[in-house]
Amino acid sequence: MRRPLIVGNWKMHGSLQANESLVQGVVARWSGVHLAEVGVCPPAVYLSQVSQLLASTNIGCGAQDVSWAETGAYTGEISAAMLADVGCQYVIVGHSERREYHAESSELVARKFIAAQSAGLTPILCVGETLAQREADETLAVIGEQLQAAVELAGRKAMTAAVIAYEPVWAIGTGLTATPEQAQEVHEFIRDQLGEAGAAVRILYGGSVKPSNAAELFAQPDIDGALVGGASLNSEDFYRICQAAE
Ligand code: 13P
Repeated sequence: MRRPLIVGNWKMHGSLQANESLVQGVVARWSGVHLAEVGVCPPAVYLSQVSQLLASTNIGCGAQDVSWAETGAYTGEISAAMLADVGCQYVIVGHSERREYHAESSELVARKFIAAQSAGLTPILCVGETLAQREADETLAVIGEQLQAAVELAGRKAMTAAVIAYEPVWAIGTGLTATPEQAQEVHEFIRDQLGEAGAAVRILYGGSVKPSNAAELFAQPDIDGALVGGASLNSEDFYRICQAAE
Protein backbone atom coordinates (compact mmCIF):
# COMPACT_ATOMS: atom_id res chain seq x y z
CA MET A 1 0.00 0.00 0.00
CA ARG A 2 1.26 3.48 -0.81
CA ARG A 3 1.20 5.84 2.16
CA PRO A 4 -0.56 9.11 1.28
CA LEU A 5 1.77 12.11 1.24
CA ILE A 6 0.90 15.79 1.46
CA VAL A 7 3.70 18.31 0.96
CA GLY A 8 3.40 22.07 1.33
CA ASN A 9 5.52 24.10 -1.10
CA TRP A 10 5.83 27.52 0.50
CA LYS A 11 7.61 28.92 -2.58
CA MET A 12 9.12 32.38 -1.88
CA HIS A 13 6.95 33.17 1.13
CA GLY A 14 7.74 33.52 4.81
CA SER A 15 9.79 35.25 7.48
CA LEU A 16 11.24 34.01 10.78
CA GLN A 17 8.10 35.14 12.56
CA ALA A 18 5.56 34.00 9.98
CA ASN A 19 7.22 30.56 9.68
CA GLU A 20 7.08 30.04 13.39
CA SER A 21 3.39 30.74 13.66
CA LEU A 22 2.57 28.70 10.53
CA VAL A 23 4.53 25.69 11.83
CA GLN A 24 2.93 26.02 15.25
CA GLY A 25 -0.50 26.07 13.66
CA VAL A 26 0.19 22.98 11.56
CA VAL A 27 1.85 21.01 14.38
CA ALA A 28 -0.96 21.81 16.80
CA ARG A 29 -3.52 20.41 14.37
CA TRP A 30 -1.49 17.46 13.10
CA SER A 31 -0.06 15.95 16.30
CA GLY A 32 -0.65 12.26 17.02
CA VAL A 33 -0.60 9.25 14.73
CA HIS A 34 -1.83 9.57 11.16
CA LEU A 35 -2.14 7.44 8.08
CA ALA A 36 -0.87 10.24 5.86
CA GLU A 37 2.70 11.55 5.80
CA VAL A 38 3.08 15.33 5.84
CA GLY A 39 5.97 17.63 4.99
CA VAL A 40 6.68 21.29 4.28
CA CYS A 41 9.23 22.93 1.98
CA PRO A 42 10.21 26.42 3.12
CA PRO A 43 12.67 28.71 1.29
CA ALA A 44 16.27 27.52 1.70
CA VAL A 45 17.35 30.24 4.14
CA TYR A 46 14.69 29.06 6.59
CA LEU A 47 15.37 25.32 6.38
CA SER A 48 17.39 25.23 9.61
CA GLN A 49 14.75 27.19 11.46
CA VAL A 50 11.84 25.11 10.19
CA SER A 51 13.55 21.72 10.59
CA GLN A 52 14.34 22.66 14.19
CA LEU A 53 10.75 23.72 14.80
CA LEU A 54 9.65 20.37 13.35
CA ALA A 55 12.13 18.24 15.30
CA SER A 56 10.24 15.72 17.44
CA THR A 57 7.03 16.24 15.44
CA ASN A 58 5.55 13.90 12.83
CA ILE A 59 6.00 16.47 10.04
CA GLY A 60 8.95 16.34 7.65
CA CYS A 61 10.97 19.11 6.08
CA GLY A 62 12.13 19.53 2.50
CA ALA A 63 13.80 21.99 0.14
CA GLN A 64 12.45 23.52 -3.07
CA ASP A 65 15.56 22.98 -5.18
CA VAL A 66 19.07 21.50 -5.05
CA SER A 67 22.31 21.70 -7.00
CA TRP A 68 23.23 18.86 -9.32
CA ALA A 69 26.83 19.22 -8.13
CA GLU A 70 28.23 17.57 -5.03
CA THR A 71 30.53 20.34 -3.82
CA GLY A 72 32.85 23.03 -5.12
CA ALA A 73 32.93 26.40 -6.83
CA TYR A 74 29.22 26.88 -7.59
CA THR A 75 28.38 30.30 -6.18
CA GLY A 76 24.85 30.51 -4.82
CA GLU A 77 24.16 26.79 -5.06
CA ILE A 78 23.20 24.42 -2.24
CA SER A 79 24.18 20.75 -2.31
CA ALA A 80 22.00 17.80 -1.40
CA ALA A 81 24.38 16.87 1.44
CA MET A 82 23.90 20.37 2.90
CA LEU A 83 20.13 19.96 2.75
CA ALA A 84 20.39 16.61 4.56
CA ASP A 85 22.75 18.23 7.08
CA VAL A 86 20.13 20.82 8.10
CA GLY A 87 17.40 18.22 8.50
CA CYS A 88 15.73 17.83 5.10
CA GLN A 89 14.14 14.55 4.06
CA TYR A 90 12.73 15.70 0.72
CA VAL A 91 13.65 18.02 -2.10
CA ILE A 92 11.48 19.24 -4.97
CA VAL A 93 13.22 18.99 -8.36
CA GLY A 94 12.00 20.30 -11.69
CA HIS A 95 9.17 22.50 -10.46
CA SER A 96 7.65 24.23 -13.48
CA GLU A 97 8.59 27.63 -12.03
CA ARG A 98 12.25 26.54 -12.12
CA ARG A 99 11.90 25.01 -15.58
CA GLU A 100 10.34 28.26 -16.81
CA TYR A 101 12.17 31.08 -14.95
CA HIS A 102 15.54 29.34 -14.64
CA ALA A 103 15.50 27.46 -17.93
CA GLU A 104 15.98 24.09 -16.25
CA SER A 105 16.02 21.30 -18.81
CA SER A 106 14.73 17.80 -18.13
CA GLU A 107 18.33 16.60 -18.24
CA LEU A 108 19.43 19.07 -15.56
CA VAL A 109 16.43 18.08 -13.46
CA ALA A 110 17.44 14.42 -13.82
CA ARG A 111 20.92 15.26 -12.52
CA LYS A 112 19.38 17.03 -9.53
CA PHE A 113 17.22 13.95 -8.97
CA ILE A 114 20.34 11.79 -8.78
CA ALA A 115 22.16 14.25 -6.52
CA ALA A 116 19.22 14.17 -4.11
CA GLN A 117 19.06 10.38 -3.95
CA SER A 118 22.84 10.11 -3.53
CA ALA A 119 22.56 12.20 -0.36
CA GLY A 120 19.69 10.10 0.98
CA LEU A 121 16.96 12.63 0.21
CA THR A 122 13.64 11.76 -1.41
CA PRO A 123 13.35 13.73 -4.64
CA ILE A 124 9.89 15.02 -5.52
CA LEU A 125 10.10 15.14 -9.31
CA CYS A 126 7.63 17.60 -10.82
CA VAL A 127 6.20 17.12 -14.29
CA GLY A 128 3.43 18.97 -16.05
CA GLU A 129 2.18 20.44 -19.31
CA THR A 130 1.29 24.02 -20.22
CA LEU A 131 -2.18 25.00 -21.37
CA ALA A 132 -0.96 25.31 -24.98
CA GLN A 133 0.47 21.79 -24.80
CA ARG A 134 -2.79 20.41 -23.37
CA GLU A 135 -4.82 22.15 -26.06
CA ALA A 136 -2.50 20.73 -28.72
CA ASP A 137 -3.11 17.28 -27.28
CA GLU A 138 0.53 16.95 -26.26
CA THR A 139 0.01 16.34 -22.54
CA LEU A 140 1.11 12.71 -22.39
CA ALA A 141 4.03 13.26 -24.76
CA VAL A 142 5.33 16.14 -22.63
CA ILE A 143 4.94 14.23 -19.36
CA GLY A 144 6.55 11.17 -20.96
CA GLU A 145 9.60 13.19 -22.04
CA GLN A 146 10.02 14.84 -18.61
CA LEU A 147 9.76 11.46 -16.90
CA GLN A 148 11.99 9.65 -19.35
CA ALA A 149 14.92 11.99 -18.72
CA ALA A 150 15.00 10.97 -15.05
CA VAL A 151 14.38 7.29 -15.80
CA GLU A 152 17.22 7.21 -18.33
CA LEU A 153 19.74 8.77 -15.97
CA ALA A 154 18.65 7.20 -12.67
CA GLY A 155 17.12 3.91 -13.85
CA ARG A 156 13.58 2.70 -13.28
CA LYS A 157 14.38 1.09 -9.94
CA ALA A 158 15.45 4.46 -8.50
CA MET A 159 11.92 5.72 -9.13
CA THR A 160 10.46 3.46 -6.43
CA ALA A 161 12.23 5.55 -3.75
CA ALA A 162 11.13 8.81 -5.35
CA VAL A 163 7.94 10.82 -5.39
CA ILE A 164 6.49 12.24 -8.59
CA ALA A 165 4.26 15.30 -8.64
CA TYR A 166 1.98 15.92 -11.59
CA GLU A 167 1.44 19.66 -11.70
CA PRO A 168 -0.32 20.96 -14.81
CA VAL A 169 1.22 24.41 -15.32
CA TRP A 170 -2.17 25.92 -16.17
CA ALA A 171 -3.52 24.86 -12.76
CA ILE A 172 -0.72 26.34 -10.62
CA GLY A 173 -1.76 29.42 -8.69
CA THR A 174 -4.66 30.04 -11.07
CA GLY A 175 -7.54 28.63 -9.08
CA LEU A 176 -8.13 26.22 -11.98
CA THR A 177 -7.78 22.62 -10.87
CA ALA A 178 -7.53 19.63 -13.15
CA THR A 179 -10.69 17.60 -12.79
CA PRO A 180 -10.18 14.35 -10.87
CA GLU A 181 -10.58 12.51 -14.19
CA GLN A 182 -7.99 14.66 -15.99
CA ALA A 183 -5.50 14.16 -13.15
CA GLN A 184 -6.22 10.43 -12.87
CA GLU A 185 -5.57 9.94 -16.59
CA VAL A 186 -2.08 11.43 -16.29
CA HIS A 187 -1.28 9.68 -13.00
CA GLU A 188 -2.21 6.34 -14.51
CA PHE A 189 -0.05 7.10 -17.54
CA ILE A 190 2.93 7.95 -15.29
CA ARG A 191 2.52 4.72 -13.34
CA ASP A 192 2.31 2.70 -16.56
CA GLN A 193 5.46 4.33 -17.91
CA LEU A 194 7.39 3.13 -14.88
CA GLY A 195 6.54 -0.54 -15.34
CA GLU A 196 7.08 -2.59 -12.19
CA ALA A 197 8.43 0.42 -10.26
CA GLY A 198 5.14 2.17 -10.93
CA ALA A 199 3.23 0.17 -8.35
CA ALA A 200 5.35 1.53 -5.49
CA VAL A 201 5.97 5.11 -6.52
CA ARG A 202 3.83 7.79 -4.94
CA ILE A 203 2.34 10.24 -7.41
CA LEU A 204 1.07 13.54 -6.04
CA TYR A 205 -1.21 16.02 -7.75
CA GLY A 206 -0.44 19.74 -7.57
CA GLY A 207 -2.25 22.80 -8.88
CA SER A 208 -4.79 24.81 -6.87
CA VAL A 209 -5.43 22.03 -4.34
CA LYS A 210 -7.79 23.35 -1.68
CA PRO A 211 -9.83 21.89 1.17
CA SER A 212 -12.86 21.94 -1.14
CA ASN A 213 -11.34 19.79 -3.93
CA ALA A 214 -8.80 17.60 -2.08
CA ALA A 215 -11.09 14.69 -1.21
CA GLU A 216 -12.34 14.11 -4.77
CA LEU A 217 -8.77 14.17 -6.08
CA PHE A 218 -7.55 11.74 -3.40
CA ALA A 219 -10.43 9.39 -4.18
CA GLN A 220 -8.80 8.60 -7.56
CA PRO A 221 -6.92 5.28 -7.55
CA ASP A 222 -3.60 6.69 -8.77
CA ILE A 223 -3.52 9.95 -6.79
CA ASP A 224 -1.46 9.38 -3.64
CA GLY A 225 -1.54 12.88 -2.20
CA ALA A 226 -0.77 16.47 -3.09
CA LEU A 227 1.90 19.09 -3.54
CA VAL A 228 0.17 22.17 -2.19
CA GLY A 229 1.22 25.76 -2.90
CA GLY A 230 -0.96 28.66 -1.78
CA ALA A 231 -3.20 26.67 0.57
CA SER A 232 -0.15 25.39 2.50
CA LEU A 233 0.45 28.92 3.82
CA ASN A 234 -2.72 28.72 5.89
CA SER A 235 -2.48 26.13 8.67
CA GLU A 236 -6.21 25.42 8.80
CA ASP A 237 -6.51 24.93 5.02
CA PHE A 238 -3.36 22.80 4.93
CA TYR A 239 -4.64 20.70 7.82
CA ARG A 240 -7.97 20.12 6.09
CA ILE A 241 -6.19 18.97 2.92
CA CYS A 242 -4.04 16.59 5.00
CA GLN A 243 -7.12 15.26 6.71
CA ALA A 244 -8.75 14.54 3.37
CA ALA A 245 -5.90 12.09 2.68
CA GLU A 246 -6.51 10.09 5.86
P1 13P B 1 -0.86 26.22 -5.95
O1 13P B 1 -1.38 25.20 -4.97
O2 13P B 1 -0.68 27.58 -5.32
O3 13P B 1 -1.62 26.23 -7.23
O4 13P B 1 0.65 25.77 -6.32
C1 13P B 1 0.89 24.46 -6.70
C2 13P B 1 2.34 24.23 -6.76
O5 13P B 1 3.02 24.75 -7.62
C3 13P B 1 2.95 23.39 -5.72
O6 13P B 1 4.26 23.09 -6.02
